[in-house]
Amino acid sequence: MFPTTRLRRLRYHPAVRELARETRLSAANFILPLFVRPGEGVREPIAAMPGHAQISPDVLADEVREAAALGIGGVILFGIPAEKDARGSDAMSDGGIIAQAVRAAKQAAPDVLVVTDVCCCEYTDHGHCGEIGRSTGRMDVENDPTLELLARQALVHARAGADVVAPSGMIDGMVGAIRRALDAAGFLHLPILSYAAKYASAFYGPFREAAESAPQFGDRRGYQMDPAAAAGQAMREIELDLAEGADIVMVKPALPYLDIIRLAWERFPGVPLAAYNVSGEYSMVKAAAERGWIDEKLVALESLTAIRRAGAGIILTYWAKDAARWLEKE
Ligand code: PBG
Repeated sequence: MFPTTRLRRLRYHPAVRELARETRLSAANFILPLFVRPGEGVREPIAAMPGHAQISPDVLADEVREAAALGIGGVILFGIPAEKDARGSDAMSDGGIIAQAVRAAKQAAPDVLVVTDVCCCEYTDHGHCGEIGRSTGRMDVENDPTLELLARQALVHARAGADVVAPSGMIDGMVGAIRRALDAAGFLHLPILSYAAKYASAFYGPFREAAESAPQFGDRRGYQMDPAAAAGQAMREIELDLAEGADIVMVKPALPYLDIIRLAWERFPGVPLAAYNVSGEYSMVKAAAERGWIDEKLVALESLTAIRRAGAGIILTYWAKDAARWLEKE
């Protein structure tokens, strides 16, 4: 009790503070999301995400080399195809934009981990994460027919040289379907990072501009999780994905769901846990910083520290390059 115990003794001296520090950030734990579109020399800024752009595969090569030089743990690629259709055919073609992007990235910097987002929404003309139908009585993603599409996408990514595939559609059985397809094709060694607990979140707003993937009707609440659902539902999602063969599991978004990250960390010791610090979390800070209302660097590093402290060892973040530079200087 006070006055014997004075916790400020741990804070007066900067070196004591440093010693007592438990949560440390490292560029090696960051994954940088990148948006790739067809063309050459393309760097089309994304208005809602200052500092990010849609880039062509040749420009991607430069980005990946830069990520390597900064010691960033990996990149996650999202493709924006020239042509969209009902089933997202471009994503299932070995000549499609995502396959081109993976090859360009691996060629530019073979040691940089290339993760691919396995989902239909960037490739479908309706913007939903799978095949659309009415079997439930309303227009929604048809679960089981979508599994086949996702398995085909994962195989395209694997053949192009992806190091990790990351299904993000919240389709029941997606991890198992992808695992079986990969194993049957000899990709036994290829890990799956599952977006296991992904919420139907308004924080994805800027991403949908970046990936041109806004649903053309309805929303994603028929497949992504309800933010108000019992936290235990997220644990069931993670448990099922692990049973289906997920190697790394992710919670998304990050900051509004730190409780879910912490629960997963407690409930599944030893399972690598990732969190996606999503577009809205990034753009809000950017916008406020542009107005001089907050300090971007301090807010970003504090946010990343909080996500790490909650239990996420791996963080997907649009600040990956900036944070790597900021940490280098410290
Ligand atoms: C694709 C996907 C989305 C994000 C990552 N993968 C969009 C969505 O589900 O609507 C969002 C990432 C972000 O906001 O940064 N299914």
